[in-house]
Amino acid sequence: MTARLNVNIDHVATIRQARRAPEPSVVAAALVCEQAGADGITIHLRGDRRHIQDADVYVLRQALTTYLNVELATTEEMIKVATQARPDAVSLVPESPNEITTEGGLDVRANFDAVRAAVEQLRAASVFVSIFIDPDGAQIAAARDAGAQQVELCTAAYAEATLGAAGLHGAGAERVAQELHRLREAAMLATQSGLQVAAGHGLTYRNVGAVAAIHEIHEFNIGHNIIARAVLVGLERAVTEMRAAIRRGAKTLTHERT
Ligand code: PXP
Repeated sequence: MTARLNVNIDHVATIRQARRAPEPSVVAAALVCEQAGADGITIHLRGDRRHIQDADVYVLRQALTTYLNVELATTEEMIKVATQARPDAVSLVPESPNEITTEGGLDVRANFDAVRAAVEQLRAASVFVSIFIDPDGAQIAAARDAGAQQVELCTAAYAEATLGAAGLHGAGAERVAQELHRLREAAMLATQSGLQVAAGHGLTYRNVGAVAAIHEIHEFNIGHNIIARAVLVGLERAVTEMRAAIRRGAKTLTHERT
């Protein structure tokens, strides 16, 4: 089965906030993504509100017919928004004020009590809980013990290894293979631990295929590359192309296995 695709539309809000203007509308963008075959929409409500605003969470919650996944930090403020807005899913992510984007997975082990308390509150509000972690066995165990239903494996290290990788040989190709191996092992371990497995960060039309071939991964969260392509070819086509890239990757696996 091909993995689900949630399109992260934070960058649509980034453009809007650049002028504090009403356009572009995140709702309009989300509906186009849905029509183009996205299985859901992901947004990140950051503490600094640099793109998505609180009102967006509520309005998207009403407007979407597929699935709303909200990424947020494990803070009292954010858990309150989530338990009030009740999106389909929350992904707990680490957050630091000066980062350009999320830097690596949440250290669930180091923040275990706070994460477990947040998971409890979210699940009590009937919100599905995912935790964004590095592909690491100890973090998978901690996420499971904290009560999460899903882990989202951070693909940043893999994505970085693939940068400029067209025709990569030697050490570069070796690093890509190592990072893929880490993702594959982590996806298998998480599945064996009873967790659903998602993946995301830094994925592109070029590098998503090899990750889509890991059949334990049932969901992708992809933003930057889709919105960057949408600027040139339109959002509908950009989403359709990403769906196709994921499907091609999943088929590679089928061929390898038969
Ligand atoms: N998953 C998580 C947890 C993220 O924080 C992000 C970035 O907001 C993504 C996926 C999507 O990353 P990208 O924009 O690089 O596709």
